[in-house]
Amino acid sequence: MGSIKIYNTQMDTCLIVDFGSQVTKLIARRVREMNVYSIIVSPSKAMQSITAETKCVILSGSPYSTLEECSPTIDSKIFELGLPILGICYGQQLMAKILGGKVENHGVREFGQSELNVVEQNPFIDENSIVWMSHGDCVTQLPQGFKILAKTQNAPCAVIANEGKKFYGIQFHPEVTHTEKGREILKHFVVEISKCEQKWTMSAYKNETIAKIKAQIGDEMTICALSGGVDSAVAAKLVYEAIGEKLICVLVDTGLLRKGEVEQIKATFPDINVIDAKAQFLRELSGISDPEQKRKVIGRLFIEHFQEFSKKYSDAKFLVQGTIYPDVIESAGSDGLAQTIKSHHNVGGLPKDMKMQLCEPLRELFKDEVRLLGEELGMEKKVIYRHPFPGPGLGIRILGEVTQEKVEILQNADKIYIDFLHENGLYEKIWQAFSVLLPCKTVGVMGDGRTYEFVLALRAITSEDGMTAQVFPFEMADLLEISTRIVNNVKGVNRVTYDITSKPPATIEWE
Ligand code: XMP
Repeated sequence: MGSIKIYNTQMDTCLIVDFGSQVTKLIARRVREMNVYSIIVSPSKAMQSITAETKCVILSGSPYSTLEECSPTIDSKIFELGLPILGICYGQQLMAKILGGKVENHGVREFGQSELNVVEQNPFIDENSIVWMSHGDCVTQLPQGFKILAKTQNAPCAVIANEGKKFYGIQFHPEVTHTEKGREILKHFVVEISKCEQKWTMSAYKNETIAKIKAQIGDEMTICALSGGVDSAVAAKLVYEAIGEKLICVLVDTGLLRKGEVEQIKATFPDINVIDAKAQFLRELSGISDPEQKRKVIGRLFIEHFQEFSKKYSDAKFLVQGTIYPDVIESAGSDGLAQTIKSHHNVGGLPKDMKMQLCEPLRELFKDEVRLLGEELGMEKKVIYRHPFPGPGLGIRILGEVTQEKVEILQNADKIYIDFLHENGLYEKIWQAFSVLLPCKTVGVMGDGRTYEFVLALRAITSEDGMTAQVFPFEMADLLEISTRIVNNVKGVNRVTYDITSKPPATIEWE
């Protein structure tokens, strides 16, 4: 299955070399927030990724130490191209080492917030501030031409620079919000020092991408499988703007979507083809409790339906998918340097022998950028600001075996929960909220009678991109009200709990 390259920017670009830090993506986001296009590449692809548009390079942090024998490195020629280079943490140490400085480990780890003190007045760091550190090694000897601009108690070379060559190395992480002046530091490097033009806007992206899709797909029939999620909806809308009725949308109604979801998708895409597979999904899931097996069954059925559908349009040449940038980076970006926490099987995963070419117009975008693009395309806010929803749907939120009765209980309870969040202005403050039906019953008392019904768990988290998550700190009164409404109105649930575990150690979904 081939893939067409949709975006091929002629804008100034900041190249970010990823040595495997968990927060590399944040660097790219911060750069894009200042309207400068940024891409993340692995160290082995860094040199070949440099184009006329590359205006600067950022070397990321890493879980490795430059003192380890097999630690990742970079072609030293990158320092001979005349490009401004910023090394962050591991990136700083690698730069120092390659250019002839020394890195050592004195056994002092600095983790968390530190005070940064300016040693020599300079425009790069112009005042003392709080920064976020996470390192064991330190630059102890500067490469030739470098000087120290700032230090912390445990890092004498917290900020170093060779101003003539525009090489900067910082020990702390400017991309995390705990570093007070982090955004200013990155902006100073990208905009002032590297002179990147700030032209990366969603409106420009939209127009450029629509023109590219028109040129590349032309009049060919194209299929898009919608899932109810934000990404596939925005991708479909974008392609529709480019090729209009040549786009055929399809939705497999698995019966595992949220309550009212099919109707909502139909309202956004009135011409969509809906395949009613509810009964079949339930039948095939019956008797299966293992989460991975459930995922496999759901994925297989989805693909079978999609293949059957696409036979009707055998002349279709393209397939639209809502792949977004984090998916691209996670699957290919880092030479496997970042540690894999959990792999997701997206229901949209399609067979390899598929003849159609892939069109993935969101491949360059982060989730929040996809939402901005949705706004640019005039889509309804309630569609584009919906919380993420996993491909296998309620199939992995009904723990254990999935039955029709449980689907109905979960859909009804979840609707009450989510409606409450909307009514009380909480939905936008939460990154993802949902309910989980537990595979156990407990005793309760309602009126004068004994009940023996299911337990429901509520989940609500805040997050940047789903990689890590914090528990949303509800007011207790809100939790009590949600619980009361659910138990009073949903037959089948007599007890509600709130999941108070962050990620890590838990994951966001329960299965
Ligand atoms: P976890 O549970 O891994 O979830 O912390 C992180 C984010 O990914 C979503 N998720 C999935 N999405 N297919 C998907 O398309 C899946 O199998 C899947 N599992 C989890 C989850 O809802 C959260 O937003």
